[in-house]
Amino acid sequence: MKDVYQIKNRIVNEFAKIQTLDQVQTLRVKYLGKNGEITELLKMLKDISHEEKKVYGKAVNQLKMQVEKLLSEKTEEFGEANIQKNLNASQFDITLPAPGNELGSLHPITLVQREVEEILSGMGFMIADGPEVETDYFNFQALNMPPTHPARDMQDTYYLENGQVLRTQTSACQGRIMINHKPPLKIIAHGRCFRNEALDAGHENIFFQLEGMMIDKDISISNLIYVMKLLLTEVFQKEVKIRLRPGYFPFVEPAFELDLNCLICGGTGCPTCKHSGWIEILPCGMIHPNVLKLGGIDTEEYTGFAFGMGLTRLAMMKYGIKDIRLMNSGDLRVLKQIGV
Ligand code: DAH
Repeated sequence: MKDVYQIKNRIVNEFAKIQTLDQVQTLRVKYLGKNGEITELLKMLKDISHEEKKVYGKAVNQLKMQVEKLLSEKTEEFGEANIQKNLNASQFDITLPAPGNELGSLHPITLVQREVEEILSGMGFMIADGPEVETDYFNFQALNMPPTHPARDMQDTYYLENGQVLRTQTSACQGRIMINHKPPLKIIAHGRCFRNEALDAGHENIFFQLEGMMIDKDISISNLIYVMKLLLTEVFQKEVKIRLRPGYFPFVEPAFELDLNCLICGGTGCPTCKHSGWIEILPCGMIHPNVLKLGGIDTEEYTGFAFGMGLTRLAMMKYGIKDIRLMNSGDLRVLKQIGV
């Protein structure tokens, strides 16, 4: 049996002389590699007596642990030094502008979202947020859509294995907001929504919405119309004409489809408005008492309106983008072409 103590002294001396990461690697192979010196010592243990193993085996194992420790200390020491050396030698300057001086730009959806947020926060609306992976409760039940409600069918939902959903609408934020804020309240929440749509120029399975809510004493349809009209006038930077049609959404009653007089043809009819003169832009309505109650709000005292704006749609209209699939494509030519 070899003298472990002597071997250990030799190894410690060798490690003390290390200058580079390569040398660390060489010693790793020399001692702990497949045929390394310590590996060989360990292999020999099986041939010695039980009594010897107790003492000698313990010593060899300790030696192995010491070498492992030395290896990791030296790896850290020279690994760091290596990185620092490479960094010092590198000509790369992260503060330099990108090649060709091309600056990035914000996505049209982000631009429209920020614009709408600015307009509405100017009117006193707070900005809230909600999760994209949502519970069935907030996405449906809190919105007056219990599990068997037929209106769920209109929203081709991605269900997760744990029973949660990818939210199909930013309306899912309504219940969360009502739990955390008490009226009077004016709040908006925007974000990504998901539906299992067959993709074409007009349908995407990921799109952006912006939800808004105002709850206070004596809120009526007049307040709703006023805020919506002001919002659209500001977004399009001109006086707009709107009309309300009856709509159906289980969480608002009455529910409306709010149409915008087509800005392209002025209402005479064109392909954009499908020759109707009107563009469906903003579903809205008076918040259903059931929704308020589930949110813990006293329906004797308070009423409110809610609206859901398709931000993707709005961005497409504003920047004249005809195919919705371009919006999530990451194709820089889209940004360049619309010059944002
Ligand atoms: N969440 C609805 C949808 O995506 C849109 C909507 C309709 C939102 C009416 C509202 C509303 O707040 O009042 O189809």
